[in-house]
Amino acid sequence: MYVCSCNPFNDKAVKQYLTECGEQKARCGDVYRACSGGASPNCGRCGPTLKEMVREHNNALTVNQMKENFPASTDAEEEREDAAPAATPVNAKKPDQPVI
Ligand code: FES
Repeated sequence: MYVCSCNPFNDKAVKQYLTECGEQKARCGDVYRACSGGASPNCGRCGPTLKEMVREHNNALTVNQMKENFPASTDAEEEREDAAPAATPVNAKKPDQPVI
């Protein structure tokens, strides 16, 4: 699929550039220049598509960074949570209480 028709490049070129960015956040201007061979945008119709692709790339990085900074709970943490007594609702009927 063509992303830009004024300075033709397609989504494969954008994806390749974003892949080459690796763990670096991308900027739309840099992506455009790289994929168009250094040309400047003309009509701007490709802007929303390009922004969406860059946003998805940058959001994926943010999610990965969050996973690194806040790793999933360990088995030991889950066992402690399982061992904790369950909260009893305030209005729960006690077992030895007669039913009225
Ligand atoms: S379609 Fe990209 S500048 Fe016109």
